[in-house]
Amino acid sequence: MQIKNIGVVGAGIMGSGISQVAASAGYNVILNDIEDKFIDRGLTAIFHSLERMVKKDKITSAEAKTISGRITRSKKLEDLSDVDFVVEAVIEDKTLKQDIFRQLDNICHSEVILSSNTSSISITSLAAVTSRPEKVIGMHFINPVPVMKLIEVIKGLDTSSETVKSVFDLAEIMGKVPVMAEDFPGFVSNRVLQVMINEGIYCLYEGVGTRESIDDIMKMCANHPMGPLELADLIGLDTVLNILNILYEGYGDPKYRPCPLLKKYVEAGLLGRKTGRGFYEYAK
Ligand code: 3HC
Repeated sequence: MQIKNIGVVGAGIMGSGISQVAASAGYNVILNDIEDKFIDRGLTAIFHSLERMVKKDKITSAEAKTISGRITRSKKLEDLSDVDFVVEAVIEDKTLKQDIFRQLDNICHSEVILSSNTSSISITSLAAVTSRPEKVIGMHFINPVPVMKLIEVIKGLDTSSETVKSVFDLAEIMGKVPVMAEDFPGFVSNRVLQVMINEGIYCLYEGVGTRESIDDIMKMCANHPMGPLELADLIGLDTVLNILNILYEGYGDPKYRPCPLLKKYVEAGLLGRKTGRGFYEYAK
């Protein structure tokens, strides 16, 4: 099936980034969320990202306009009835994602692939609520989506090799590099990354270092562009906590136990860049 129109469910940091790269690759995108304010925020993020690319002479302002023009807003999942491919990118809540997959299965044509940008929830459990488990797959983009090359592709128990091939082809057209991982909690990326971030937070909690020293040490020790605390702020502390809880429950192993300091920050609503304060402070 030739893909021309892509539906993206969820206009948050990831959904807006995915819409931008899909539209930049020439696809028409329907960007769906439940409230206008979420769609507005997503479209503003796309506008700023494209503006940044124009300033860096990566695209012209006419191209930026064409890319934005390919994105249509939507508040009803039914608007996705004629799309050729779906990427779901709502919050990491299994019940919510299953509910969306159940609805998409009824709304979209039977040959349409339903992918999820989940960072840690079982693809098999999303496939199980549909009548097309062979067409359900994980397509895990990395933040910031316009910049990061990787798409971690996750095959559920019944995902077909044709579906994997379509997703690899699509990822390459979007200028990304697809790499396979099996369907176990956290896949590869978050299983490894979140343990490092959690240990960075434990170092702060136990007074082994300051936020700056922990980040400086890890940046220069491992040649990472950001330290674990800066990175947690970029990802969102609520998302980090959610993923750690999924790893902790999924493997039953205490090595994934979220740091109490992380829980406290999330309880206080200090979620990182998106709220203006996490381990660091950000201008609003
Ligand atoms: N849109 C478009 N371009 C952007 C951008 C955006 N949102 N953000 C950055 N860029 C571009 C800049 O224009 C710049 O382009 P240039 O190289 O042509 O000049 C380039 O990216 C680098 O940006 P900056 O110079 O502003 O800043 P840095 O060099 O500090 O890079 C960064 C910023 C790319 C975010 C870098 O710090 C980085 O790679 N950080 C690590 C990110 C990471 O580890 N992400 C993983 C998160 S985990 C995840 O997503 C999984 C999930 O499931 C939780």
